[in-house]
Amino acid sequence: DFDGAIARDLLEWYDKHARVLPWRAPPGTPAMDPYRVWLSEVMLQQTQVATVKPYFEKFTTRWPDFASLAAADDADLMAAWAGLGYYARARNLLACARTVAGEHDGQLPRTEAGLRALPGVGGYTAAAVAAIAFDERAVVVDANVERVVSRLFAVETPLPAAKPRIHALADGITPDARPGDFAQAMMDLGATICTARAPRCMLCPLRGDCAAHSGGMPETYPRKTPK
Ligand code: ADE
Repeated sequence: DFDGAIARDLLEWYDKHARVLPWRAPPGTPAMDPYRVWLSEVMLQQTQVATVKPYFEKFTTRWPDFASLAAADDADLMAAWAGLGYYARARNLLACARTVAGEHDGQLPRTEAGLRALPGVGGYTAAAVAAIAFDERAVVVDANVERVVSRLFAVETPLPAAKPRIHALADGITPDARPGDFAQAMMDLGATICTARAPRCMLCPLRGDCAAHSGGMPETYPRKTPK
């Protein structure tokens, strides 16, 4: 992929097939409000898209920006979060909103490093928000992306040892233009086509670039160390 063919093919697919999601700007349009991108990425960390949708609507209606969320009552917020699980995320959400409102004039930092310094914002979230909200070239790797990349390059090292290699390979295919759309396209491909059990390779825009597809057993990637 020395010529960016993977990014080009994937973005062309995304332009036609991007999932319509309440926290997502349509392909090629200006980025969504960073508050909504950040809130959705925190909610999506350990929770499925379908579960997150109604919570995202409820939160953004009740607390439409950092200032309103920062002023929320702790117990009200915990009650609104009930059902999403991983309650540390809700406490960090409030701490982060208060830091942004109190110390950053209500604006999220635009860089990965600046975002990483906020409460509850780990490496994945910082990269995702930088790319999706601010069009920064960040390498966004979640479990879906790990699976797509391990198949594209037939990574034989098992997870979790393969993580640094997968990150480097993802870096190598991330384009300078449209990094946010690219990140979301990788996630959509992993969620809808390059699925864990029965990948639908016949529909995949990257079939011709995929070493695991050539090898005939794409579903056997990513390799995992036996438990
Ligand atoms: N999972 C986590 N973040 C996502 C996003 N922005 N789009 C689709 N799936 C996601």
